Amino acid sequence: MGSIDTPTITENGSTQLQAAAPSGGDHKPPASANGAQVEVSPEPEATKKRRSSMLPLEVGTRVMCRWRDGKYHPVKVIERRKMPYAVPYDYEYYVHYTEFNRRLDEWVKLEQLDLDSVETVVDEKVEDKVTSLKMTRHQKRKIDETHVEVGHEELDAASLREHEEFTKVKNIATIELGRYEIETWYFSPFPPEYNDSLKLYFCEFCLNFMKRKEQLQRHMRKCDLKHPPGDEIYRSGTLSMFEVDGKKNKVYGQNLCYLAKLFLDHKTLYYDVDLFLFYVLCECDDRGCHMVGYFSKEKHSEESYNLACILTLPPYQRKGYGKFLIAFSYELSKKEGKVGTPERPLSDLGLLSYRGYWTRVLLDILKKHKGNISIKELSDMTAIKAEDILTTLQSLELIQYRKGQHVICADPKVLDRHLKAAGRGGLEVDVSKLIWTPYKEQS
Ligand code: ACO
Ligand code: ZN
Repeated sequence: MGSIDTPTITENGSTQLQAAAPSGGDHKPPASANGAQVEVSPEPEATKKRRSSMLPLEVGTRVMCRWRDGKYHPVKVIERRKMPYAVPYDYEYYVHYTEFNRRLDEWVKLEQLDLDSVETVVDEKVEDKVTSLKMTRHQKRKIDETHVEVGHEELDAASLREHEEFTKVKNIATIELGRYEIETWYFSPFPPEYNDSLKLYFCEFCLNFMKRKEQLQRHMRKCDLKHPPGDEIYRSGTLSMFEVDGKKNKVYGQNLCYLAKLFLDHKTLYYDVDLFLFYVLCECDDRGCHMVGYFSKEKHSEESYNLACILTLPPYQRKGYGKFLIAFSYELSKKEGKVGTPERPLSDLGLLSYRGYWTRVLLDILKKHKGNISIKELSDMTAIKAEDILTTLQSLELIQYRKGQHVICADPKVLDRHLKAAGRGGLEVDVSKLIWTPYKEQS
């Protein structure tokens, strides 16, 4: 399967690129910018003048930018800042690569931009926004107030723009968590006293975060947690799952939300974690249980959501943990005797993971099943909501609409082909190791 690019992770000082760079960028860079030894005739005075008249570039400008793959890609300037001790036009620019996900947005230097490609029409909406940078009451309420996570689909176009404006520049660039240093992906609304920190240090067990390494070292000497707070509801080999009640462990729940938001874009963070349960997946060794990922789940969902947010921490991604967490959420739904669906919208990576999981689970059943089977029966067997079954089978072109009814057409050869394309199965959930009863409000 192909790869979607994500930022980098460092362990013991060595940096690894997590996924292959996307292709693209047949734009020809200026001779001086690609490092090639070519003889360049002096720049005509007129060109120089034209270029410097553009500087500093306006927010909203579209231009080509040299990325870490050495190629030029179209970007939009999101923000700019003057460099300390700089000559008048020396600015850094925060850019969004318009072909890629927002997690790859970054600060770049002027020399990475090809000024000959500048499109002079500045995006008006961005300009409007820049003049009203301060937080609106609406945003403030959303951040200060309580409750659940809301997806973008519930936001109207104006609120969506506000969200993008308020979260446009990543605030924390890296975090240290356990033995990893991880580049962050998105903005997360940490309390104001962390505004001036580019890096935060997390205790990997209680998830408290600090501005300085020495503070973390002092904390680690005192912190007596060696696993997430709450009940261990699953253990198989070195894998454990803990259920954390947001009401009983408020600070942990809030810390987890701050941390998770660094890797989740389309979610608005709220601080009242009372209404959620957190299922934290850990790899355990003699030093303790190290968080690998988690999902959150509303205690009561009117929309039959069985999962609100899901995250595998970047160092652990693409190893099957995401599908394990998804499978786990459906095992809980089966125990509750309910069908479930993830909260929308799904991110690009979330959608890929769910599509892969749904495809594998449904096609495995269809392969083994003799005779007709209905969507309702599939839903009862898997706890996957009927709509998700329908869209999955439709996207695989396994559904026909005959005489007012959806009919599943499952040719074994076609099923095998789809199963092969759906990627690996992920880590299995051994249901016999799950010791859990559904949540009941204690009076
Ligand atoms: N490039 C291409 N395909 C990918 C990538 C990638 N970078 N990452 C995941 N996939 C696809 C693949 O099909 C993969 O299966 P394969 O490896 O067998 O080909 C499948 O998704 C899942 O792979 P897993 O290893 O099981 O999942 P992972 O542990 O990487 O976790 C997750 C997936 C949770 C979505 C992770 O990417 C993540 O945490 N992303 C950031 C947060 C996020 O976007 N969460 C979902 C938001 S939606 C919501 O919360 C309801
Ligand atoms: Zn701690």
